[in-house]
Amino acid sequence: MINFVSRLLARSEPTFSAALPGDAATISALHKASFQRGWEENEIYQLLVDSAVVAHRANIGNAIVGFILSRMAAGEAEILSIAVAPARRGRGLAGPLLDLHLRRLAGLGARAVFLEVDERNAPAGALYRRAGFRQVSRRQGYYTHGASALVLRRDLG
Ligand SMILES: CC(C)(COP(=O)(O)OP(=O)(O)OC[C@H]1O[C@@H](n2cnc3c(N)ncnc32)[C@H](O)[C@@H]1OP(=O)(O)O)[C@@H](O)C(=O)NCCC(=O)NCCS
Repeated sequence: MINFVSRLLARSEPTFSAALPGDAATISALHKASFQRGWEENEIYQLLVDSAVVAHRANIGNAIVGFILSRMAAGEAEILSIAVAPARRGRGLAGPLLDLHLRRLAGLGARAVFLEVDERNAPAGALYRRAGFRQVSRRQGYYTHGASALVLRRDLG
């Protein structure tokens, strides 16, 4: 009985690992559930096979419940997208996923990481602040719904 319960709990613990090209369909579905302009499976696939792109996933059991994608260029990285499945949000999944990703980017030689975030996106803003990102600029009225984009930076290493 105790073995059964511990196996059950172990299955519900999240795990974090590199995302693979075969994850494109699931990551595309997560992206579409998370953003107004969802990325198609083929767009995600092209990113996953790009040697300049670094990608990680969060799993609960066999299910992929989150992902993060960045592109490296000239010693810097840009986070292209991060999302957690709507039903799994607010449980601290994105933090360790982002941490693992930042450590990998640093290991690959990135000295700084940039990203753009909607100023009204409170969960993303909280996530990035907690991870040590700081605002470096603001793109006024950047999004079609009128919100501004904040450009955030975090130095690595
Ligand atoms: C942003 C996102 C990845 C965070 O994933 P998550 O696993 O839910 O993250 P967490 O559970 O660690 O929560 C992140 C922070 O947001 C806070 N938060 C959660 N829901 C919130 C809400 N509705 N309003 C304000 N803050 C909220 C949490 O309290 C936490 O902050 P804290 O560490 O200061 O307590 C997730 O919300 C998501 O996928 N959103 C849609 C896609 C997206 O906007 N991506 C970012 C684009 S830049």
